Amino acid sequence: MAGFDHFGFLAPFYERVIRGRLSDALREHLAITPSCMVLDAGGGTGRIAQLLHTETDIMVVADASLGMLREAGQKEGLRPVGAEIEGLPFADGTFDRVLMVDALHHVRNQRETVAEMLRVLKPGGRLVIEEPDIESVAVKLVALAEKLALMRSHFLRGEEIGALMDKSAGDVRVDRGNHTVWVMFDKHG
Ligand SMILES: C[S@@+](CC[C@H](N)C(=O)[O-])C[C@H]1O[C@@H](n2cnc3c(N)ncnc32)[C@H](O)[C@@H]1O
Repeated sequence: MAGFDHFGFLAPFYERVIRGRLSDALREHLAITPSCMVLDAGGGTGRIAQLLHTETDIMVVADASLGMLREAGQKEGLRPVGAEIEGLPFADGTFDRVLMVDALHHVRNQRETVAEMLRVLKPGGRLVIEEPDIESVAVKLVALAEKLALMRSHFLRGEEIGALMDKSAGDVRVDRGNHTVWVMFDKHG
């Protein structure tokens, strides 16, 4: 990533500030089964992946920040991969589940990011994107704070995220609650 690596700087303290917590909604939307191959895209320190890895065989954490990935690499059961999500080093149709939590507003190119996550998703697989819901006033304040910290943040509404997905290739669903939006894509089998 060009410019200051905010996440590399924050990596050693990240989970002391932002606690690992998996919402029931995310768990339900992911519907992971033991044989699933799962990719946590923009998975950072593995904050979320570490809470899911016992439920599945393969849990890959891909992230552009090597500092964040170093933390993920110290956690049991996670396979860290250094990559920008806009250009993932995986073959088409590799993963049963792809998740992205709190990262879409940070990426360099949101359209390319979503297209890549759909490319590496298996037919019959599911992508789940969890984002702070920019329609909530509290999240608008967070967005302002990130702008002031010169972070490359660009928040989209749930429907705008859904509009980045190829609807001829699968079904899109948007769910929201508690300042959070989830956008799901079920790829046709
Ligand atoms: C707010 S953190 C969230 C990390 C993790 N998903 C979580 O919930 O703890 C955002 C992450 O996105 C990563 N990131 C930002 N842009 C990226 C890109 N283009 N490709 C890969 N990772 C990216 C950052 O390095 C950072 O680890």
